[in-house]
Amino acid sequence: MPLDVEFVRRQFPALSSGWALMDNAGGSVMPRQVSDLASDYMRRYQVQLGASYGLSVEAGELVADGRQAMADFVGADPDEIILGPSTTINLELLAGSLRGLFEPGDELVVTHLDHESNVGVWRRLAETLDVTVREWTLRPETASLELDDLEPLLNDRTRLVCFTHCSNIAGQILDVAAITERVHAAGAKVCVDGVAFAPHRRVDVRALGVDIYALSLYKTYGPHVGLLYVRRDLLQQAASRNHYFVDDSKLNLKLEPGNTNYELAASLPGILDYFEALESHHFDLEAVPAKGARSVRLNRAFELITEHEERLAKRLLDYLRSKAGVRIVGPEGHDRATRVPTVSFTVEGQKSSSIPPRLDPHRVAIRYGHFYAYRPIRDLGLMDNDGVVRVSLVHYNTEAEVDRLIELLDSVL
Ligand SMILES: Cc1ncc(COP(=O)(O)O)c(C=O)c1O
Repeated sequence: MPLDVEFVRRQFPALSSGWALMDNAGGSVMPRQVSDLASDYMRRYQVQLGASYGLSVEAGELVADGRQAMADFVGADPDEIILGPSTTINLELLAGSLRGLFEPGDELVVTHLDHESNVGVWRRLAETLDVTVREWTLRPETASLELDDLEPLLNDRTRLVCFTHCSNIAGQILDVAAITERVHAAGAKVCVDGVAFAPHRRVDVRALGVDIYALSLYKTYGPHVGLLYVRRDLLQQAASRNHYFVDDSKLNLKLEPGNTNYELAASLPGILDYFEALESHHFDLEAVPAKGARSVRLNRAFELITEHEERLAKRLLDYLRSKAGVRIVGPEGHDRATRVPTVSFTVEGQKSSSIPPRLDPHRVAIRYGHFYAYRPIRDLGLMDNDGVVRVSLVHYNTEAEVDRLIELLDSVL
């Protein structure tokens, strides 16, 4: 059964605005399951946690449920999940806590494809530690990173390789498991930016084998919270960024100084409630085995999502390929194994900044720029062009919306 997109849209109150929202790699809207839990918490439980009185205990349980839900979401244990304000801040805190892993003369690798939040922080750390930074450059013809180009950068001084699961510009999916295996064989650890991947596909950190994985829940149908997974053995070695007297036997506390945002953490089970509602709308509930039920249901929901997104990507990419003067930045094909429906392009003779504003009056929301993936846009020679035009679709977008976009683009390109 294909995804019932009308059912999906009914779960997202903000989609009734009449806007075709296609800036989802910037931020997604949230289903009512999430906003209901946040407002419930704010109405009923806005108390301080950790006290003996009943309301405080109940509120603490709701926050713990949020962490558990996010652990289930990515296949980790709750104390390996850090809930912070954003991926950028989470990685900043983490980098400081990992200083002890490096010695002068060690090396780390960053890419030329990543969003700056998984690059700048490691470069700054390296500068203060006399650690050498190696650069995994992109192939300009395809805007892609190739494993072959990483090989010569690895050696016995490599401690960390930081790379993206999916480019927020090109939409290309990288083979994280294969890269991680190679990096581990070289004796180093990986830090993966999953921000542009997680809204589209199931994340399973154990299956990927990663040491660090970051995603931003406000782009994954949740509130403005950054989820950082750090594998237990690494988190045990990490220095605490919390007060010296805070008991960090719950490992996440090392990277949650000042605590997490309680009302938003309490809303996080709503993300899974939404995916489960989606799954049960399409599949026979009886058929879910009791053991690992949550994971099975998430996988099924993401299968539906993937299939629908592939259809949307095909429609848009087929159109863009047919237009003279349009250059797609990233994979030209729609294959689900290769890309997500984050589609960027440039148009010969037109600055990228000139295109989205012409769609605004028609209530079609797309965007242009470098999207903080500053280095790739610079390396591709697109700064003077004001970057790329980016159409970032997710599963709540419809084929009719894509057709509306294509019709408008046709009058502009
Ligand atoms: C791929 C990617 N990584 C990291 C980030 C930074 O996330 P945050 O806004 O949570 O710091 C973004 C935000 O746009 C992103 O697209």
